[in-house]
Amino acid sequence: MKVALTGIKPTGIPHIGNFLGAIQPSIRLSETCEARYFIADYHALNSTKDPEEIRRMSIEVAAAWLACGLDPDRVLFYKQSGVPETFELLTMLLAFTPKGLMNRAHAYKAMLQSNADAGKDPDDGVNMGLYTYPVLMAADILLFDTDFVPVGNDQFQHVEMAVDIAQSFNFVYGTEAFKLPQPMAHETSKTVLGLDGRKMSKSYGNIIPLFAPEKELRKLVMRIVTNSQSIEEPKDPDTCSVFSLYKCFATPDQIASLRERYLAGGMGWGHAKGELFEVMNAVLSPFRIKYNELMADQDHIRQVLTKGSDKARKLAAQKISKLRRIIGID
Ligand code: TRP
Repeated sequence: MKVALTGIKPTGIPHIGNFLGAIQPSIRLSETCEARYFIADYHALNSTKDPEEIRRMSIEVAAAWLACGLDPDRVLFYKQSGVPETFELLTMLLAFTPKGLMNRAHAYKAMLQSNADAGKDPDDGVNMGLYTYPVLMAADILLFDTDFVPVGNDQFQHVEMAVDIAQSFNFVYGTEAFKLPQPMAHETSKTVLGLDGRKMSKSYGNIIPLFAPEKELRKLVMRIVTNSQSIEEPKDPDTCSVFSLYKCFATPDQIASLRERYLAGGMGWGHAKGELFEVMNAVLSPFRIKYNELMADQDHIRQVLTKGSDKARKLAAQKISKLRRIIGID
């Protein structure tokens, strides 16, 4: 079986966009691959220095994935910090990473640009953790003989850098010690729209939280921006955010039926939103219940992660001792 690996940044409770774009497709992938999914807590340290925040968010995001159906008996589910071998591999890989490669990273270049635009020093606010982020990510990936890395398009460059670094190592020692990973786009990589019709994103303030209580969910759905067409007018499903979300939660029959009612006219936005709420709530309420149950026993979540981390560590230790032999540090 092929190995699929991905890192989950602990940035709190996910929203509908994260669910449709990452959580759901990754959990589906775990049915056909040997999946290794981890909480990327050391990556979060670059942006957050609040210990309580890191602690809380790591638990919340783990609970979210478990609530949505990640089965820790079939997915190796662990914390990056629980596998310290990652950081030994990071040190090895740094010696195979040209500085110029890091200079080309999109995230770093975007920081330089925004500093330039603000008239600041180019490296203002750039710590070395952020600068070497792609190498740590390469270590996460290469430690576990990964075939596929399911990620959003914004992460493709990082996976390609992991391939470059792996190839450089393999070439120097004439080995195939590192498997070359492939980035894998999620099938639902089409954009999930937010309340204002733009891409759903925390930074736009237009999100629907994944576990919003029923009342809040209904309120948020009713707030989705639509146009000012009257009830009688026929409506275009293909340019409508309500319909676009509906398609993500409804069955093919339900989708076809709502499409007809859009085109026929005689249906107001309030009605369409009511239908959207119903299908969303039907899909999401079991997850919401499960999430609340899990959060009521956080020790259990910690145990799941510790068990996964211990297993992951055994695999990682074998890999590291092979690599140490190759480089002559044994
Ligand atoms: N950088 C990824 C993100 O921002 C998270 C991540 C860390 C990751 N390490 C990884 C993803 C390894 C895939 C593989 O979402």
